[in-house]
Amino acid sequence: MPAISCFCPSTVFPLRSHLRYRGREEGPAWPSNLEPNPSRLMQFLATDAPVLPRRPKGWGGKNRMLPFHLLPESWRSYLAHRSIEPIQSGSGGALVYRIRDASGSVRFLKIAVEKYIEDLNQEIKRTTWLRAQRINVPSILQATAHAEVAAVLMSSVDGQPVEDCSGSPTDIINAVARGIAQLHALPVSSCPYNEDVSIRLARAQEEIAQGRVSPREFHERNQGVSPWDLLRHVQYTATNFREDVVVVHGDATFSNILVNSAGQIGFVDCGHCGKADRYVDLALISTEIEDHFGERWIEPFLTAYGLNPSSWDVSKARFFSDLYELF
Ligand SMILES: Nc1ncnc2c1ncn2[C@@H]1O[C@H](COP(=O)(O)OP(=O)(O)O)[C@@H](O)[C@H]1O
Ligand SMILES: [Mg+2]
Repeated sequence: MPAISCFCPSTVFPLRSHLRYRGREEGPAWPSNLEPNPSRLMQFLATDAPVLPRRPKGWGGKNRMLPFHLLPESWRSYLAHRSIEPIQSGSGGALVYRIRDASGSVRFLKIAVEKYIEDLNQEIKRTTWLRAQRINVPSILQATAHAEVAAVLMSSVDGQPVEDCSGSPTDIINAVARGIAQLHALPVSSCPYNEDVSIRLARAQEEIAQGRVSPREFHERNQGVSPWDLLRHVQYTATNFREDVVVVHGDATFSNILVNSAGQIGFVDCGHCGKADRYVDLALISTEIEDHFGERWIEPFLTAYGLNPSSWDVSKARFFSDLYELF
């Protein structure tokens, strides 16, 4: 298989200004005056100095401190001796860092506070379960959780997010199709997590009620529609089909699917993995394909996945794309 080459942002302390929200929009810039300065952060971790870098805007309120002081002492001393590189990422609500030790070996740290603690706990459980099913996801090296903070240290999945890859669309699409088909082939009965439509609708309602859904981030076809109206619309159309249940990733954006130079797929951000209709993943991936490569690549993807493109259910795909807007 031809090698898939990837663009890797690689300065010592890179911020991903090219970041996209769900592959469609530029994310908020991380204000440079609020960047956690790596040497100050390491000094704090080592000495317990009282001055903490502030949390960047958009991470849950003004003047909020980064939550490193909430971590157990052993974690802080571990981190104090490593380079800590923040990754400004998608919509998950956790802070994500690339941790590198002197030998260059890389791990990933995710930290969550407040309402995001339970999300991260779910991600840890579901990632552990997927790994036990031999799906290529991070291994959970260490996790800690108490009322104020949850954190996880994970192995690094080999490869780059598909959104950063510049290889041939054919190779990338075939790799993604194979990887997602392998995930969808897991025996459903063995999966303890439910992500069916009723669960997702209830979560969407909760997200809206909590003010976590911004209509400005909706796809252009839904611009001008309020989150509550979109929810009512998906609730209405939810009755139009029977669910074709498999084990899904649940948030299969091109930032959460990684591909390595041998064309192997890995998944991160698996907090919404569970039993659900296969279109949960297929609708999102087809939107990502359209955004990144163009609509004409959707058919080859479906064929490589094992679905006859003529059987593609456009209204079901639209339903799951609209429901995803509310996450
Ligand atoms: N274990 C990992 N191995 C490799 N890359 C990772 C890992 N965890 C996170 N990443 C990188 O960090 C980015 C953000 O992490 P993610 O878990 O997706 O956070 P968010 O919930 O904010 O989207 C991912 O898109 C991926 O590029
Ligand atoms: Mg993500």
